[in-house]
Amino acid sequence: MTVQTSTQTHGTLITDVTDTARWVAAHRAQESERADALFHDPFAARLSGEVGRNIASLVQQRNRNSWTVVVRTRLIDDIVLDGVKQGFDCVLNLAAGLDTRPYRLALPPSLHWIETDLPALVSHKDQALAGETASCRLTRVAVDLSDSAARSAFFAEHMRSAKRALVITEGLLCYLTNNAVSDLTRELLQLAAVQRWALDVISPAVKNKLHKSLDKNLASAPMHFAPAEGVAFFEKLGWKVERVESLFRAAVGFGRIPLPLRLLAYLPDANPRKIGQRQPWAGVVQLHR
Ligand SMILES: C[S@@+](CC[C@H](N)C(=O)[O-])C[C@H]1O[C@@H](n2cnc3c(N)ncnc32)[C@H](O)[C@@H]1O
Repeated sequence: MTVQTSTQTHGTLITDVTDTARWVAAHRAQESERADALFHDPFAARLSGEVGRNIASLVQQRNRNSWTVVVRTRLIDDIVLDGVKQGFDCVLNLAAGLDTRPYRLALPPSLHWIETDLPALVSHKDQALAGETASCRLTRVAVDLSDSAARSAFFAEHMRSAKRALVITEGLLCYLTNNAVSDLTRELLQLAAVQRWALDVISPAVKNKLHKSLDKNLASAPMHFAPAEGVAFFEKLGWKVERVESLFRAAVGFGRIPLPLRLLAYLPDANPRKIGQRQPWAGVVQLHR
């Protein structure tokens, strides 16, 4: 599908950061239609709507990188299923957007899945999924995670009963400032139940390329956090790295990389602790306390 109109003449496709959830849901909807899909999300098309499809189409035209969202989704699916097998009793999905894992994954009914996002997004999701049944116990809460008082109050209220919690921040950190990510990183470490954290990191070069190619479309949802020191950012603040997966490397393994790009697989991987300014790199990271 192509976007017929120039965003220069018709304004921007992304009106605020909640639209980025529609964007990634549209990529999940497309993946779900493939015969060899890496996951099946039967709700993604409904949730992303036309807004999401138009953004995804523009991004795909300019960046050809829908595989990053698809592979990230699959890697985090696997982290969730591993965690459940290992006895985690709570998943805390911060900025869950239009993620539907509580509905589409086979999860134990006793698992408590808590998800947050901004109020407008939570209200859209509540309406679009009314009548659907989650496989586990699901709590959805509207919280602005950049408001430290609101965030702390949310943690105090909702993390009381968890014994072993897995936190997910998928596609969130890049929209926060370095200071906000530092605060969140420290705060999560103070929550005794939080034992594992699944997140994604992009390098400065990936951030710059997205800003350049999407131009004013990202003006209402600018990306900030893209540490040149990669996972060392979290290690310095007290977390331990359990696993790092380059999205590119994983996508090569899953057969999701278009041909010319596949040749880059012959080059050595970036050091995830020293990505630097110029190397394009994005990865899914699993941290533990
Ligand atoms: C790229 S989307 C990712 C959504 C979801 N995690 C996924 O992978 O489908 C980024 C999400 O971060 C949310 N977000 C951004 N800033 C936020 C904030 N300050 N508080 C809560 N959510 C926020 C947006 O509303 C959006 O849903």
